Amino acid sequence: MTENYGRRFDGRVAVVIGGGRGIGRATSLRLAAEGARVTVVDQAPQFAEETAEEIRTAGGLADSTAVDATDAAAIGRFFYGLGEEHGRVDVLVNCPAHASDTHFERVTESEFDFDMTATLKAPFLCIQAAMHSLLRSTAPSVVSISSVNGLAAFGNEVYGAAKAGLINLHKNLALRYGPEGVRFNIVAPGTIHTRSWESRAAAEPSILEKMAALYPLGRVGTPEDIASAVAFLASSEASWITGTVLTVDGGITAGNGPLISAIFGESFFTSTVGERPRA
Ligand SMILES: NC(=O)c1ccc[n+]([C@@H]2O[C@H](COP(=O)([O-])OP(=O)(O)OC[C@H]3O[C@@H](n4cnc5c(N)ncnc54)[C@H](O)[C@@H]3O)[C@@H](O)[C@H]2O)c1
Repeated sequence: MTENYGRRFDGRVAVVIGGGRGIGRATSLRLAAEGARVTVVDQAPQFAEETAEEIRTAGGLADSTAVDATDAAAIGRFFYGLGEEHGRVDVLVNCPAHASDTHFERVTESEFDFDMTATLKAPFLCIQAAMHSLLRSTAPSVVSISSVNGLAAFGNEVYGAAKAGLINLHKNLALRYGPEGVRFNIVAPGTIHTRSWESRAAAEPSILEKMAALYPLGRVGTPEDIASAVAFLASSEASWITGTVLTVDGGITAGNGPLISAIFGESFFTSTVGERPRA
């Protein structure tokens, strides 16, 4: 692999659910670049294999499997097979989710069920099915992708509730399995420029620029911003961190900028020490 990362995952067995695109793809590439043997799982076989092939082309170790993480029987079979093959799982990363962009008053029961199933039930099923193999690792770690929507109101009520549920699930599991050394952590991203924003950007081309202007750090995030946080939490550098939420959001949940401006005026955010060079 070409990037100059450390080798925190040499000899480790990693599974990335939803690893075919976006944050999952970047995480698969990052874990592999640091030495992990990565199984890329995605409901879209082509996406999964493209990520695995990208890793192998760069000199890493990867294979791919097409599984829908909402399918309990298929996930059970997958983790059973993986346990037989490798004897253990060291790192499990859960990325699947779905948000129906429907006004709260029009959300149908089937949309509610679909969003909850993709966002909360799928990681639950994956963790439950992986437990046997995680318990056979010397340094087992689960990192799941929640969202700032799981911490506060950013629209999409059902998705937000499912993401909040995911956080609570991990806190509970951190306590249940802490004595056995299994760590459970969450990364909560703000807006990340991935495929999921392309359809919104098609309808409103300036949407990402508009959002970038609202972020204290002046940009939306990249999948790699999240991958590096996942890699940290999954690594032994985080060996005393469990049950936590690492917010990776360019500062969007740090406070309420418009409220501060309403109190103190726009000049509150104008620096008095002049311009400084920026990278
Ligand atoms: N993009 C953002 O702005 C953002 C912000 C906060 C949180 N997140 C979270 O990050 C995670 C990844 O989002 P993304 O933007 O990278 O999405 P994405 O659509 O770019 O990629 C998601 C991948 O997961 C796969 N997937 C979805 N459901 C699956 C299932 N049931 N079984 C197997 N594979 C499945 C998809 O095929 C796709 O390859 C999600 O949990 C999302 O809620 C994203």
